[in-house]
Amino acid sequence: MTDTKPRSHSGSGSTAPITPDHSRHAFAGISDSNQLNPIFARAGEATDFPLDQLPDGESLPETAYQIVHDEAMLDGNARLNLATFVGTWMDPFASKLYAESADKNMIDKDEYPQTAAIETRCWKMIASLWNAPSAEGAIGTSTIGSSEACMLGGLALKRRWQVARRAAGKSTEKPNLILSSAVQVCWEKFCNYWDVEARYVPISDEHKVLDGHDLDKYVDENTIGVVAIMGVTYTGMYEPVKEIAAALDKIQAETGLDVKIHVDGASGGMIAPFLQPDLEWDFRVDRVVSISTSAHKYGLVYPGLGWVVWRTVDDLPKDLVFDVTYLGGHMPTFALNFSRPGAQVLLQYYLFLRLGWDGYRKVQQASQDVAVYLSSEIGKMDAFELWNDGTDIPVFAWQLKKGHTDKWNLYHLSERLRLKGWLIPAYPMPDDISDLVVQRIVVRNGLSRNLAESLLLDIQEATEFLDALESPMPIEGQVSSFTH
Ligand SMILES: Cc1ncc(COP(=O)(O)O)c(C=O)c1O
Repeated sequence: MTDTKPRSHSGSGSTAPITPDHSRHAFAGISDSNQLNPIFARAGEATDFPLDQLPDGESLPETAYQIVHDEAMLDGNARLNLATFVGTWMDPFASKLYAESADKNMIDKDEYPQTAAIETRCWKMIASLWNAPSAEGAIGTSTIGSSEACMLGGLALKRRWQVARRAAGKSTEKPNLILSSAVQVCWEKFCNYWDVEARYVPISDEHKVLDGHDLDKYVDENTIGVVAIMGVTYTGMYEPVKEIAAALDKIQAETGLDVKIHVDGASGGMIAPFLQPDLEWDFRVDRVVSISTSAHKYGLVYPGLGWVVWRTVDDLPKDLVFDVTYLGGHMPTFALNFSRPGAQVLLQYYLFLRLGWDGYRKVQQASQDVAVYLSSEIGKMDAFELWNDGTDIPVFAWQLKKGHTDKWNLYHLSERLRLKGWLIPAYPMPDDISDLVVQRIVVRNGLSRNLAESLLLDIQEATEFLDALESPMPIEGQVSSFTH
């Protein structure tokens, strides 16, 4: 597309007339009469469109493309977005595969049986990665992301509890779910949408994550399960699944209540198997019945894919599963959406083949090295105190050191860094410690050590600027617009 050499019409003669070069245009050759005009100065062509009404007529594809392309340019730079956990880089082969398979609908199992078969291969690989007793005996599915995967995990817990309660002739009116106060919003949605009482265990300086303490105060006969998070969204810390399970074992021994665990491994589900393989957080812990993850986070795929796996087929109540026809036979599906893109499943499979276990380990290790480097350097700066250091998932948060300044806060620092293009949110911690504001960096594949060094210089410079102010920065109207 960027070839600037003059080209000839004739394949043979060097004397053929030289034509103007249109190859610089993204759509060279599409429209004859308009090619010579720059897109924004074409005679008779609209270059301004109504913002919220369907335009009356057509426009040339080049023009429509350029307008949309330019508007998207006003978004932040995805690679400098250190707020998101979601993948912002894939290699050119993945991009090629993505373009080739953008038309596939995941639900059309009969029409795209190979994509369906690949989906099954992927969740079986993941079931093994999470140490399911047998990948053959497990059951899983792809989803649109962790939110859907968590909803499915939560629904299965609720239905199992209902079935058991009904069988015992007991009420099913008041289910509750036990969660850390730092859960991601998808769990609040789950509880709200499916009429489940959310019982939040507050996090504190002493108990930075849900760790099993005081669990007996929350569990009762209406408890459908406990959610353990591998990579808390606010900070990136792991919740100790084994300790939570041990607390539930004790509760069972004392009360007879057998409460299961769903692990929300949105980020950690694709980090722990590679970076902390000896940590027992997965199906090695007997109480864990289901695990979910976002393939589009540390699964390294572009946005739009998650996975959920149940330990055994029996852990997913059969009446939640629907049948779709598949190659003349039947394929079980359990999903909230009907149609959704199939391309991401192929991208996941591509990465599994391309990287293998060792490749994933190297990529995740590289991210963790950068996270630990950044956290140790930020930890050395006078102004800050680390909340954690990025040694669980490559994510860490810090707070302003008490007494450092009354002239500025982390929202101001976040704003100053935005001037340099860095998107690094500041936000309050959850209820009970919501007075505490932290700032968080998510290190993903693509944040190189070089970029990290530039970031540190920018943080240093911004901090020096703020420290040198003679009077305090205004705080009027300061609210965190960041949502987890
Ligand atoms: C712990 C946790 N659970 C669930 C989610 C929701 O994931 P998704 O954006 O894939 O729906 C997130 C997203 O950050 C998360 O961190």
